[in-house]
Amino acid sequence: MNKLYHIMTFGCQMNEHDSEIMAGMLEEMGYSETQKRAEADIILINTCSIRENADKRFFGSLGQLKRLHREKPEMIVGVCGCMMQQQHIIDAIRKKYSWVDLVFGTHNIHELPELVTGILNERQKVVSVWSEHRGIFEGLPSKRRYPFKAFVNITYGCNNFCTYCIVPYTRGRERSRLPEDILKEVRELAADGVKEVMLLGQNVNSYGLADGFEMDFADLIYAINKIEGIERIRFMTSHPKDLSDKLIGAYRDCEKLACHIHLPVQAGSNRVLKRMNRKYTRESYLELIRKLREATDGQIAITTDIIVGFPGETEEDFEETLSLMAEVQYDSAFTFLYSPRPGTPAAEYDDQIPEEVKHERFNRMREVLDAGMADNNAVYEGRIEKVLVEGPSRKNKKTLTGRTESMKIVNFAGTPEMVGRIVKVKITEAKTYSLEGEVTEWDTHR
Ligand code: 5AD
Ligand code: SF4
Repeated sequence: MNKLYHIMTFGCQMNEHDSEIMAGMLEEMGYSETQKRAEADIILINTCSIRENADKRFFGSLGQLKRLHREKPEMIVGVCGCMMQQQHIIDAIRKKYSWVDLVFGTHNIHELPELVTGILNERQKVVSVWSEHRGIFEGLPSKRRYPFKAFVNITYGCNNFCTYCIVPYTRGRERSRLPEDILKEVRELAADGVKEVMLLGQNVNSYGLADGFEMDFADLIYAINKIEGIERIRFMTSHPKDLSDKLIGAYRDCEKLACHIHLPVQAGSNRVLKRMNRKYTRESYLELIRKLREATDGQIAITTDIIVGFPGETEEDFEETLSLMAEVQYDSAFTFLYSPRPGTPAAEYDDQIPEEVKHERFNRMREVLDAGMADNNAVYEGRIEKVLVEGPSRKNKKTLTGRTESMKIVNFAGTPEMVGRIVKVKITEAKTYSLEGEVTEWDTHR
């Protein structure tokens, strides 16, 4: 069989990893990947519903596939991911895009091979969407984007119900994988040449709590730190309300734990944080930053997520976000315009902020962020950094690109044998969004 698949992925790392799992399952069925949609036998769109523009982009992509599907009716078009957990989306697909062959939800990914076989045998359209999870499915294959880096799910779902967020509704209640299953997977990945693992969950800090495990998130880091072959441990995402002193201690004790934390703050005003249901204050957040810096001799890189224009955000509230950003001096941030998501409490608040105010605040926030990032990067000039080499840089194929422990992008001249290794790079120039450097040392035997 010489059949081809193509997967389009929107959204966060969880979705990226779900797509890797779907790719793994399709390859086990005998399919190979293609970058060209027109030659694919199966196209999957893995959707995101975090903001309204993600919805729009999805329907735009679907519209483009309609002609392709008409010209090649045997092609299977499937849609999955967070948007499929919302009934109004499924209704819209049934009504306006009835040519779509397959719809499946975030809890049904493991069913993909069965669903595809069913369609091939019976040529019928299929919808499989569970509203809640029915257990964790272990042992699914995964096709990694990089052979030397891997995502590892540790928790699924979210129980926090931040008032702006759709995720608790699309990904269901929080549940944790058993420690032994996670450690087994990481050991297998190490044996397969993986150097860096990224532990994934909506709130990794509450790992095991809802399931009553003895092992908490910090214990898990200590255990993975002992696994031979793994050289870097990262995690995403961390909720400030559950960040423990024990985890902060792990930055001191675990040499493989990358000196970086992504700690979404969302807003700098206590009034807004309360209305967002974030369950921490500006002061307690800044105290965590202080402790993290203390534990790492000021070395830790800190990145965040920030929303501007949350309902009821006043100019004073917004200025508190700016002053918090100036105080923390983030290394980078994902910045978002608040987007009302139907079904979430904040979408119903009657003090929505006009779009032009949101945009004006957004631009001011980016200025503060860029200034902080440029200052942070400038400190790197002349330093020697350990860089995990990812491959040729996107802009200039002749240079290599990789990431420091602190997640900074570094571009430098090198040879193809360096890809997938950790090399030492002297930073020669700092830019706002990346660093330039020269390799000073690399071990050809590893
Ligand atoms: N509008 C804007 N940003 C949002 N996020 C989540 N929901 C929304 C929304 N409705 C952002 C948060 C979260 C990140 C993944 O997406 O900052 O941390
Ligand atoms: Fe959404 Fe809040 Fe859960 Fe993050 S912690 S997924 S922002 S509800």
